[in-house]
Amino acid sequence: MKIRSIVVILLLCLGVTNIQASERNPRAFFNKKDLTLTGVYYYPEHWEESQWERDLKQISDLGFDFVHFAEFAWAQLEPSEGVYDFAWLDRAVAIAAKNNLKVIMCTSTATPPAWLVRKHPDVLITHENGTKMDHGARQHPSPSNNFYREYSLKMIDKLAGHYGKDKRIIGWQLDNEPRPVYDYGNDAQQRFRDWLNKRYQTIGALNKAWGTAFWSQVYSDFSEINIPKVSQMFMNTHQILDFNRFATEEMSSFLDSQVLAIRKNSNPEQWITTNYIPEYSDGHLRKSDELDFHSYTRYMVFGENFGVGRKGYRLGHVERISKANDFFRPIDGVYGVMELQPGQVNWGKINPQPLPGAVRLWLWHVFAGGSDFVCTYRYRQPIYGTELYHYGIVGPDGKTPTPGGLEYSQFTKDIKALRKEYDAKAKNPETYEKRRTAILYNHENTWEMEKNRQTTEWNTESHVDKYYYALKNFGAPVDFIDERENFAKYNVMIAPAYEMLDKDLVSRWTKYVEAGGNLVLTSRTGHKTRNGQLWEAPFGEPIYNLIGAKIDFYDLLLPHTPDNVSFGGNKYQWTSWGEILIPDSSTETWAIYEGDFYEGSPAIVYRKLGKGSVTYVGVDSKEGKMEKAVLEKLYGILNIPILNLPEGLHIEYRDGFGIAVNYADKTLQLPVSGRAKFIIGNKSIDTAGVSVWKE
Ligand code: GAL
Repeated sequence: MKIRSIVVILLLCLGVTNIQASERNPRAFFNKKDLTLTGVYYYPEHWEESQWERDLKQISDLGFDFVHFAEFAWAQLEPSEGVYDFAWLDRAVAIAAKNNLKVIMCTSTATPPAWLVRKHPDVLITHENGTKMDHGARQHPSPSNNFYREYSLKMIDKLAGHYGKDKRIIGWQLDNEPRPVYDYGNDAQQRFRDWLNKRYQTIGALNKAWGTAFWSQVYSDFSEINIPKVSQMFMNTHQILDFNRFATEEMSSFLDSQVLAIRKNSNPEQWITTNYIPEYSDGHLRKSDELDFHSYTRYMVFGENFGVGRKGYRLGHVERISKANDFFRPIDGVYGVMELQPGQVNWGKINPQPLPGAVRLWLWHVFAGGSDFVCTYRYRQPIYGTELYHYGIVGPDGKTPTPGGLEYSQFTKDIKALRKEYDAKAKNPETYEKRRTAILYNHENTWEMEKNRQTTEWNTESHVDKYYYALKNFGAPVDFIDERENFAKYNVMIAPAYEMLDKDLVSRWTKYVEAGGNLVLTSRTGHKTRNGQLWEAPFGEPIYNLIGAKIDFYDLLLPHTPDNVSFGGNKYQWTSWGEILIPDSSTETWAIYEGDFYEGSPAIVYRKLGKGSVTYVGVDSKEGKMEKAVLEKLYGILNIPILNLPEGLHIEYRDGFGIAVNYADKTLQLPVSGRAKFIIGNKSIDTAGVSVWKE
């Protein structure tokens, strides 16, 4: 164990609070031997108090470890200004504790009470067209409203003062599915100007960064600047980029201030997180550094997520949970899933039933990523309000478990059995760890490319996914990392379409490679500065020395006339983005273009540099098979053993357990060694099946 961790554990034991973000060790919040805890949202304020006892007892009988309270209950907690009522919640917490259920407490800032909104209508988000949101839904207040920020913290201070030292409360969830808010209200406008002033110091620097010489946009003072109307045609894209940054930081800093308000009052054993939606272009996902760790919410079946085969939509897409696992886990080394669908939802365009077994499959998939808890929205199906027809663990009668509810219950039992098999010394297989790969990701590139696509054929997320999906087919553990990470931890690092960069990053990449790292860069990388401007140089010039090639020009094809890239004896279609490369003499050409005036020119190049290598994939294929073939070749050169898993099958390891999940529409055979001792399932795995083993 690292010295830092020992110190933190000692401090926790001594009850020392106010530990700096950099010194906290989120691992200490959970007991490895528990493997995972399982919980459920319960809203006592929705039901007759006479039913709480029955409900919480049944939650416990079904095997859950914790409940999640008060997420939207501000109106009940502060029924009028400055008058707080925790008595009802105290009674609910007491009943939970009596039934051996721990509690996650929430801050309810997504739903201010009506009296607050009516007295301070400025808290409501103002849309771009000047209209305002209203009370009657949720997520209508703005984190950029100064009063709202302050008043929320007052309420949180009271709540945390009341529950912060309560041993029955294991942790806190802030707000609900927080996202950057596009608010055009007065406070937001002023805060944006202040933010810009701090960032650029002088109006001259801002004019330069935003290229305001173009179209007479020059500003002479920060007070002249407004939040950009993003739907207005031709709005300055550098200004929009900064507004995205601002909106991201507004939400992140709101969350961070909530953390500090709780931490001031709470025992260090209580952890603090929130429930992010894995929308990977939302920058705030990695920005709230005060959180102890990051959690996510995930819904799999809502009629749009087709999966494998004719009825694949009943299971959802195999990469949907795994990508969220691989995105959130590396941030703090600890993560949880706050909401996982228990059955049918109400909000999709079409809301089909999940396949029997689907809920169990998803639970194990979450577990496979290394999570410390999983929780479901919600216990009882609502019989009033906006979410009628949303399944719960029990149906509208409040008593009868749904099929998904029973699958949750089965999972809690299986986990209890698995705890007996836990061996603190067990390790994941070496071959698995050897495949571990980093994907370097920065949401700002996604914003920039989606705003300036140049072709409707380009999609940033699907470009990244082509590499990610290939890695999961290889059975590789993947860590999505950002630039704060130490690259040297990874033998292979892929930075797909890393459009905006600075020379420092290129020099870090170069050092990483020289020291033995293997870097894969892909089309569009390095074209722009961090302000989204092109370099005053040939296209992508800052990366030329690193990739051992120049970029001659780029081409974009029409959808009905794809061309081919020829690689390793196979042809792969492309339309969206192709860079025509001119390799240096010591750089190998791996693939060439066919079918157009630059036929025979290099599309993919590879070079050795120092102890490592750089692969530059200048083209984005239509289906992702080319990206997979490129990685296959690279892993071959590097002697990294890879699997070739069939579509729909994922295999991961955690704590020495192998876990396989099958989203395919047929029974599959697992490529595991004869040494495998199956604990759940076996080598033959059916649709929606799960197998768990030790080697
Ligand atoms: C989530 C949200 C929950 C609930 C759920 C319904 O996005 O966080 O509060 O509304 O959807 O599926």
